[in-house]
Amino acid sequence: MPIAHHLLLCATPTKALCGDPALGAASWERLKTLIRSLGLEDPDRPAGVVLRTKADCLRVCQNGPVLMIWPEGILYGGVTPERVERIVHEHVIGGRPVQEWILRRTPFVACEDEAAASEPETGMAHPGAKNGV
Ligand code: FES
Repeated sequence: MPIAHHLLLCATPTKALCGDPALGAASWERLKTLIRSLGLEDPDRPAGVVLRTKADCLRVCQNGPVLMIWPEGILYGGVTPERVERIVHEHVIGGRPVQEWILRRTPFVACEDEAAASEPETGMAHPGAKNGV
C-alpha cells in the first residue's frame, strides 16, 4: 500500500505551547472528516493512501496549531478548520502547497543506507517526485 502523504497535527498538545487547543481540536475533527469523505484513506487509491496523526508536539511551538506534511516536510502554521480544507485540496490532492501559510520546510533527507536503496522503507515517494515541490 503506497503512502502518498502523512499529515501530523499538534491538535491538543499536553502543554499547549503553540496554539489554542480548542482550535487544534476543531482542526483535527475537520481533517479526519475531510480525509475520510474524500476517500483519501482508501488503500486502493491509485495516488496512495493519506495517513493522519494527532501529534502531541512537533517541536515548533509557535504560530500553531502546526500541521506537518510528509514527504515534502512542509509545516503550516495557524491551522484552522478552514485552512485544513484548503491545504488538503490544494496541497495534498492538487500538489500545490499553500505558500502563504508555510512556517518552514524540513526536506526529507535520506540516511546513507536509504539513499543507496531505490525507495525509502516508508514507501513514500521522494519529495517532489509527484508534486513538483
Ligand atoms: S505544541 Fe504545537 S508544535 Fe509544540
